Amino acid sequence: MKITVSSAPLTEQKKDAIIVFFQGLEALLPNGNTTLKKLADELVKNSGFKGQAGQVALFPTTGKIAARQLIVAGIGDSKNFHNGLLERASATAVRTGRAAGLKSFTLASKAKIGGVSEADYQLLAGRGACWGSYEFSVYKTEAKKKAAASLTFAGEIKNRAAIKTAEAQGAALLSTADVANLPGNAATPEAIAEWAKTMAAETGLSCQILGEKELAKKGCGGILAVGQGSARESKMIILKHAGTNKQAKPIVLVGKTVTFDSGGISLKPGKGMGWMRYDKCGGMAVLTAMQMIARMNADTPVIGILGAAENMPGSNAIRPGDIIKAYNGKTIEVLNTDAEGRLVLADAIGLGADMKPAAIIDVATLTGAVIMALGSAAAAVLGNDETLIKQLIQSGATAGERLWQLPLYKEYTDDLKSDFADISNITKSNGAGTATAAAFLQEFVPEGIPWAHIDIAGTAWNESSAPHQAPGATLFTARTLAQWVRLQEQDSFS
Ligand code: BES
Ligand code: ZN
Ligand code: ZN
Repeated sequence: MKITVSSAPLTEQKKDAIIVFFQGLEALLPNGNTTLKKLADELVKNSGFKGQAGQVALFPTTGKIAARQLIVAGIGDSKNFHNGLLERASATAVRTGRAAGLKSFTLASKAKIGGVSEADYQLLAGRGACWGSYEFSVYKTEAKKKAAASLTFAGEIKNRAAIKTAEAQGAALLSTADVANLPGNAATPEAIAEWAKTMAAETGLSCQILGEKELAKKGCGGILAVGQGSARESKMIILKHAGTNKQAKPIVLVGKTVTFDSGGISLKPGKGMGWMRYDKCGGMAVLTAMQMIARMNADTPVIGILGAAENMPGSNAIRPGDIIKAYNGKTIEVLNTDAEGRLVLADAIGLGADMKPAAIIDVATLTGAVIMALGSAAAAVLGNDETLIKQLIQSGATAGERLWQLPLYKEYTDDLKSDFADISNITKSNGAGTATAAAFLQEFVPEGIPWAHIDIAGTAWNESSAPHQAPGATLFTARTLAQWVRLQEQDSFS
């Protein structure tokens, strides 16, 4: 979505629609917009629109201002506000407008929302508008291509940086969403590797692909075990953003990229299994974040590693009880082939640790248990470094994505003991699924490297259409990771 700026007043913007955010019944407009405020208040009055989070309404402006329609979108009350609600309100407004056939939108260059800086407002509203314009139409043979949408921030603008960032991040989100939403027959490990190569060439990242031969040579027994039941070759995809700071240690972002998780021999129930095409979404978040980082020319070197494999119950598949060896030399008793993400991540984290990183952050749709714990309201974050975890939670709050910390007690590690190998891939007690998965991963992080794990199984996709987003991938965590890397630019992580 093209985003422009204009210093002409909002009432003079000749666009299809003007978007006004509401906190409850208060229009969030900068001082001086009295005509528009009056019109918005009049239209909203007695309409049933109460400015609740997710609420939206569209009114014709009947020539009272230059824009043809007024879209009001609610962010709810101040008590329950978080930045994600502003991004969603913007997405909801554009999505509603698009459904009504509108294509050009305008909104205020700033808004008084408690706790949201002018730059954050521009980033959230701009990025949200881009996201709201997204539709996955790759397979709709009859679909007519809608004309591209555009957005104009109107009013006084001191600094355009946040608006440029919103446009770049919006583009990164939209292009990756088209891969993230592809089904398993199209988004194979190889196809994702090819896509990553092209994206890297376009954005100035370097890209290295390790196929099964190279993975075997390196001793990556985890990812190979997961992929061995599939006819599709597993790939480790390594993207590098060099950065200008040559002294800095790199940040490593790791993403679980299981292109389809059938469970393997420990087969999943048939109902809903099709959603497991979204088991690649950790990798998709990393792919998006790498694109954002490249486009913002971050000083910090950042490396993205995607462990891409398909988990299938073929005749060569790993069996429950098999013992494999991960990249770091640890042996793993695979008691459940459906706990495959951690096997892929074990190798990817091991490879990342070799790069002497300042920190490793992995993102994965790792456990159904995180859905029990947090639903789709937040992702879980766990790790070995409280500072890193706090920074990620803070970056998430700014970026509109909620992270909630779960503990990583020693009991969880103890629960992974195996009688036959160094560690088992599932626990004996069956409890605390999200924390024990993280405890497993911790075994592959060398001492002294700050590490955090983000479980996005509850937040990575929406099963049905929501006001703010098309059904499918949300690319959750991409925004947080980009925000966290921005933070490193200001305050170098040690
Ligand atoms: N990909 C799943 C986790 C998942 C479940 C993601 C539901 C999204 C929605 C993962 O590979 C898995 O199957 N985990 C098992 C682990 C168990 C066997 C220890 C789970 O969570 O049930
Ligand atoms: Zn699984
Ligand atoms: Zn999985």
